[in-house]
Order: sequence, then structure tokens, then C-alpha cells
Amino acid sequence: MDSVKPLAVVTGASSGIGLALAGQFARHGFDLVVCAEDAGVAAAADRLRGLGAAVTAVRADLATYDGVEQLYSAVLATRRPVAAAALNAGVGAGGAFTDVDLADHARIIDLNISSTVHLAHRLLRAMLAEDDGRLLITSSVAAMAPGPYQSVYNASKSFLQSLALGLREELRDSGVTVTSLMPGATATAFFHRAGMDDTRLGRMPKDDAAEVARDAFTALMHGRERVVAGSVRSKVLGTAVKVLPDRLKATGQRYLSRPRPGRSRTS
Ligand SMILES: NC(=O)c1ccc[n+]([C@@H]2O[C@H](COP(=O)([O-])OP(=O)(O)OC[C@H]3O[C@@H](n4cnc5c(N)ncnc54)[C@H](OP(=O)(O)O)[C@@H]3O)[C@@H](O)[C@H]2O)c1
Repeated sequence: MDSVKPLAVVTGASSGIGLALAGQFARHGFDLVVCAEDAGVAAAADRLRGLGAAVTAVRADLATYDGVEQLYSAVLATRRPVAAAALNAGVGAGGAFTDVDLADHARIIDLNISSTVHLAHRLLRAMLAEDDGRLLITSSVAAMAPGPYQSVYNASKSFLQSLALGLREELRDSGVTVTSLMPGATATAFFHRAGMDDTRLGRMPKDDAAEVARDAFTALMHGRERVVAGSVRSKVLGTAVKVLPDRLKATGQRYLSRPRPGRSRTS
């Protein structure tokens, strides 16, 4: 990857918001290291090359320590500084807390939380050595609300929101910025993968991932603290969740996330 272009790292780049984010980087003159768990990352990399970027595709399970190290080794192998990174890979699991397998809860924690802390630690050390870099952490408007029927997911996003804001303040005298991306409900594979097709949230109209990624990229490049990305509906929701009491937010989330009675998580 001999190039004078800046380099960006995007996780969860094979579909949805991550693929759209990677597209933004490619269109704005970045080369890329992209990561996802499954074989689809190779096809995503080909699409991104079609936008003019040099792309390294890494297939790794970021829910494991070794998977994160595998990705970071590929970043080091480019021998280029990382100008920007989007820590975006994430999963959910809808359903009553005790109905969802413990392994699925653990996977949310391993991927959404542990891998983000791990990769942020590696990347921020390198960015601070250059005194330059932009880090995007995909949180959610769900970070601001209790999450009945997806409690572990919402809690993981609250963790990421706090992490992003804390790191941002810690680094404010450096050339490194941290931005929290807070999408509302977005049309991706997320809800199906989380077994939430049969919830009101799963069936409701959703934002376009391309629009979310455009807003996110602009906020990241301007070094903003956070961005509630996507439609006007999501931006209004993003404002409402700041002021509504937790009890009310919990009731609203319960209405949206509760599986239809008598249906299994995956039906
Ligand atoms: N969609 C929404 O409404 C919404 C709203 C707020 C926040 N978010 C957040 O946005 C982020 C992206 O989700 P999305 O909506 O774009 O869903 P998505 O289309 O399902 O994308 C998830 C991405 O994460 C990757 N991934 C999943 N498990 C992985 C693992 N163990 N190791 C490496 N990569 C893994 C997937 O790759 P593989 O297919 O290879 O597994 C895929 O590229 C997530 O953090 C999610 O929490 C989504």
C-alpha cells in the first residue's frame, strides 16, 4: 500500500453503516483497512476499490482478543499512520434477558465493548505518537435509554458513549479527536441478526445507512463530540432522549422491542 493518501480503519465494514462509512472514506481520498468476520468483507473491499481506494481486507472475529490483534497486525503491516478509524462492528440480541442465551449476551460484551476498548487502546497510542488522528466510535441513540428486551445491547452502547466522551476530554489538548456516532434505527441487517424482525422496532421505518454515514463522516472530520446521524425523525429522537425521564424511555423502548407474544426470538 505505497500511497500518499491518508489511511482509515473501519470495523464492521462488510455491510450496513460500516460499509457506508468505508465508502465515505474512499470517496474522500482515503485508503482503507477494513474488517469483518465473514467472507463478505472481500466483496466489500472490491466495491471500495472501485471507488479509488487501496484496500486491505481483514477477516477476523473481533469478539476475540486474537481477532483484534490480527486486525491491528494488518494495520501495522501497512507501515502507515492511521489518520482515522471507525470502531463500528457491533451486534445485538433481542428478547427477554433470560430467554436469550448467555453466550449471545457475552458476544455483545466481547464485540461491542471489549474489542472497542482493545482497538481504541492500540490505535490511540499510535495516533498520539503522531499527535494526529480522528476516532469514531459507533454508539447509538439507544445509549441514552434503558433497553428492555435488549438490555445488554443498550448497556453496551451506554458504555461506548461514556468511553467516547471520556476519551475525548482526556485528549482535548492533543491533535487527536474522538467522536461518538449515535444512529437511530437504520435499515441494515442489524435487526434481523438480533432476532428482532418480529418487534415494532424491527418493522418500523428506518434511516438510510448512506445518510447516517454522510453525517458521521462530516462530524468526524470536523472533530465534533457527537452526532445523532440520519433522518429528522432520529435527530428529534436524539434530542428527546436527552430530556425524557428514564422511566418513560424504558416504557417506550419496551413497547418497541418486545417480541410479539408467543413468538420466538428468531421467528
Ligand atoms: N442499524 C441500526 O439501527 C443501528 C442503530 C444504532 C447503532 N447501530 C450500530 O451500528 C453498528 C453497525 O451495525 P449495522 O446496523 O450496520 O449492522 P450490520 O449491517 O449487521 O453490520 C454489522 C457489521 O459488523 C460486523 N461484525 C459482526 N460481528 C463481528 C465480529 N465478531 N467480528 C468482526 N466483525 C463483526 C459484520 O460483519 P459480518 O457480517 O462479517 O459478521 C458487519 O460488517 C453496530 O455497532 C450497531 O450497534 C446500528
